[in-house]
Amino acid sequence: MLTKVYSAAIQGIEAYPVTIETEMSQGTRFMIVGLPDTAVKESYERIVAAIGHSGLTYPRRRITINLAPADIKKEGAGFDLPMAIGILASAEMIPVDTLADYMIMGELSLDGSVLPVKGVLPMAVKAREMGYKRLIVPEANVTEAAVVNRVEVYGVRNLVEALGVIRDTGELQPTVINTREIFAGNVMNFDADFSEVKGQQTVKRAFEVACAGGHNILLIGPPGSGKSMMAKRLPSILPPLSMAEALETTKIHSVAGKLARGSMLMTSRPFRTPHHTVSPVALVGGGSNPMPGEISLAHNGVLFLDEFPEFPRSVLEVLRQPIEDRVITVSRAKYSVNYPASFMLVASMNPCPCGYYGHPTKPCTCMPGQVRKYMNRISGPLLDRIDIQVEIQPVEFDDIASTVPAESSADIRERVIKARAIQQARYADCPGVHCNAQINSRLLRRYAWPDAEGLAKLKERMTRLDMSARAFDRILRVARTIADLDGSEAVLTRHIAEAIGYRSLDRGNYGKTY
Ligand SMILES: Nc1ncnc2c1ncn2[C@@H]1O[C@H](COP(=O)(O)OP(=O)(O)OP(=O)(O)O)[C@@H](O)[C@H]1O
Ligand SMILES: [Mg+2]
Repeated sequence: MLTKVYSAAIQGIEAYPVTIETEMSQGTRFMIVGLPDTAVKESYERIVAAIGHSGLTYPRRRITINLAPADIKKEGAGFDLPMAIGILASAEMIPVDTLADYMIMGELSLDGSVLPVKGVLPMAVKAREMGYKRLIVPEANVTEAAVVNRVEVYGVRNLVEALGVIRDTGELQPTVINTREIFAGNVMNFDADFSEVKGQQTVKRAFEVACAGGHNILLIGPPGSGKSMMAKRLPSILPPLSMAEALETTKIHSVAGKLARGSMLMTSRPFRTPHHTVSPVALVGGGSNPMPGEISLAHNGVLFLDEFPEFPRSVLEVLRQPIEDRVITVSRAKYSVNYPASFMLVASMNPCPCGYYGHPTKPCTCMPGQVRKYMNRISGPLLDRIDIQVEIQPVEFDDIASTVPAESSADIRERVIKARAIQQARYADCPGVHCNAQINSRLLRRYAWPDAEGLAKLKERMTRLDMSARAFDRILRVARTIADLDGSEAVLTRHIAEAIGYRSLDRGNYGKTY
């Protein structure tokens, strides 16, 4: 008998449907066609053992399984469960009339238990899109799938439970999750708060501006000045994820297999902190079975690169294109996949190898030229993509000894959210633009152009500080955000003055005294 069981596979961060056709006839040969990879080919051994350990008899017949569409490579062990069900259905050991209602996925272990698979969330989204009524997934993935409503989601621990669902024994109940509730309940939980950071008003303000406009930010300062400490608190002042953003980000984590067991929708923005020994593939994604990299896991959130110059140049240079395009394309021999990568880059570094260049009290012990050389580890084009560069000085003793808590993250976040709302309204007609960091020069001219006085000021300051021309657009973009925080329609001279202050590295004299 020929049966069809429906499943799905992942390409990029989207699922595509896969139909598993099972045909049974006289003989004993077992064959899988439809571009299976090794893991899929090995399914046979797992399926035979799993069926045996589930108290059933494996049908000793000639079995041909076709994975359709036949032109896309099928990877991984996620088809074990639907194939096992297809075999049992073809042997008429389970009812076949309702199979068309189900989308099924799961890896089998030899004893018949069902193991988790990657990408269950996008598969569940696909199942709803295609109108399937029921979804059978590994129990470990059930909460992530149940985020999708209008589909009954069954999390099964083993093959027997899956068969129970198909036989409609009523023993297993579908898992129901109210996404609005988890969203409302969870959004504001952060374990670190800006109120613990003493002093450092300018740097905190720079962070506020960066978050408000989605600007990339680089911190330069001596050891122990609180760079890592403040960067860690950044998620707590970012605007909350919208439902659509949460779904996008969770999908990527689901595909990468990075969701903890029992996790549902991600409610706070991701904060990724890859170490400087990270490989280019781990950072941007790819590999022989393509997987999203750190920059995609940071989608809609923050990518924090601590000790920026320690990252090999080859690793830093691959960041240039995704920072600009907010998506990364990974090409394989036969196809290419896109992973979204709209992240805010936050980087921190010491100003020189000894760490004390520009320190108010400690002398810098670097050799002449070393400061420049250290800075040059970050290429010009990469630096050019960082809107805000701030120097940070060690916190004053009086500040650090103060017992008065500083302004809380919640208060800062409130201003950030307000400024973002202004931007969202302004760019409502511009597809793909949500914040000032993303505007092109046309939008810049339209919305961020200062008046004559502001322009004159900009010219005077840029000349005096010997700033490179490439800083011009960056300054205006940041000034636009500062004006938004100020609730000002126009970009005024004071906004420009503040924005110029955030271009430490553009000053012609930086590092020249050594
Ligand atoms: N403004 C501050 N308020 C309160 N504590 C601070 C502040 N600045 C620094 N500290 C304390 O100093 C510690 C070291 O700071 P942090 O690790 O952030 O330094 P860093 O700038 O990242 O240094 P490095 O360049 O060595 O990485 C913090 O964990 C914190 O306890
Ligand atoms: Mg640090």
